[in-house]
Amino acid sequence: MELVIFSALDGLQAHLEQYGDLAILAPSRLEQVTRVLEDARPPEALYLDDTRPAALPDLWRVITLARRVGVRVLVNFSGPTRGALNDAQAAGLPTLSERDPARVAAWLGEQLRLGRAAPPRLAMVAIGAAKGGIGKTFATCVLAEGLRRRGLRVLVWDSDISNPGLVPAFRIPSSAPSYLHLIQRGPAHWGPDGIRPFIFQPEHTRGSANGWGGIDFLIGSHAVARAENDVRLPDWQGFYEGVARLEGYDLVLIDTPPDYLRRPYATHALQRGGAVVLPAPPGARERMGVGHLLDHLREHAPERLEQCMLLFMEPERGVTATVKEVAVLFARRYPQVSSLGALPRAPRLASLADEHDGYISMLDLGPHGPFAAAVHQVVDALCGRLGLTPPLPMPRSSLWARLNARLRGEGALAARSPAVA
Ligand SMILES: Nc1ncnc2c1ncn2[C@@H]1O[C@H](COP(=O)(O)OP(=O)(O)OP(=O)(O)O)[C@@H](O)[C@H]1O
Ligand SMILES: [Mg+2]
Repeated sequence: MELVIFSALDGLQAHLEQYGDLAILAPSRLEQVTRVLEDARPPEALYLDDTRPAALPDLWRVITLARRVGVRVLVNFSGPTRGALNDAQAAGLPTLSERDPARVAAWLGEQLRLGRAAPPRLAMVAIGAAKGGIGKTFATCVLAEGLRRRGLRVLVWDSDISNPGLVPAFRIPSSAPSYLHLIQRGPAHWGPDGIRPFIFQPEHTRGSANGWGGIDFLIGSHAVARAENDVRLPDWQGFYEGVARLEGYDLVLIDTPPDYLRRPYATHALQRGGAVVLPAPPGARERMGVGHLLDHLREHAPERLEQCMLLFMEPERGVTATVKEVAVLFARRYPQVSSLGALPRAPRLASLADEHDGYISMLDLGPHGPFAAAVHQVVDALCGRLGLTPPLPMPRSSLWARLNARLRGEGALAARSPAVA
């Protein structure tokens, strides 16, 4: 179906593009709409709202013309011409008074009886918490490395532009492109073709001869983003739809910022059929942060809560709460939420990786220690939950390699951490 939209509603076109079998034309001036309507082959439908500057009599003239040539007209008056809503209804037009682009798109879909396009094939996984420093970025890094070792192709999307922790972690150079520039170009550019040139593919995380998948990146900013580069929520949501339709990846890991009320990225991923991984250290403040996000998700996507997964993180030495105790508390309060298991603390490996000259994964620094073994277990559980079948088996270490690793002190602290039920 051919649809002309005359609207400045941000993100509307991106939302509409989710419908299959729909060709959208979005002229910015009313004269262009008139010209399209006067064509020998006019479109099937015209949607117009009052978000572009146009006088009401001019809008009426276009509506009348469209009806005369047999074009279906749908109007949404929610701003300056709201008063004309009754007239439009009296004229027998389907009408709406709504500013939310997702709702407008859903209404148009219903009115025009559009079928949804096939759901995005890509698994979208947001790493979320309602508190900083909980380990979101850390979890994103190790999950990405664990997943690629199973032959999966991972795209890591750094959406925490106010504190881009992935940039130092993966040693992303300042020459890497920033998707913020693409977002500024507007919704028409947020399809897979527009996004692809903004994906950064560092040599050190490419697929290798042993069959591992690669890790690619969508990077927003290299340091704290400037205020003028801030991303508004409808833009982020529109961009999300483009990312979800990218080809060449098995899943997208989204590192999200902690201000979940202003930037409800994990909520959106969940509502759009994605999953949320919540790193959960057992300390009182951390569990409160995890609980806040879970309460928020339960309120906004109650029927999708089973797509939330807790990733327990062993606490630092001295913290008295244990993962085992806290896991029971969470299971009682959020029975739909499952656990991916627990990651041991590996401060030595983390520090060695941080201090390393260039990028190196903690999994390469300690491939046979308890930390790597736990990551592989967690990744396996995650694949199971997402319904992904990894091409490569779970990496296993021989007893000799494990003993040797222990003698060398690889993850010595982690080895003393209590087991998790
Ligand atoms: N299992 C672990 N072993 C060793 N260090 C860890 C472990 N888990 C987390 N850390 C450390 O905890 C610190 C905080 O983690 P991280 O930066 O990932 O938090 P965050 O939730 O992304 O924070 P922010 O909201 O500020 O982005 C990091 O320095 C990380 O190295
Ligand atoms: Mg972070």
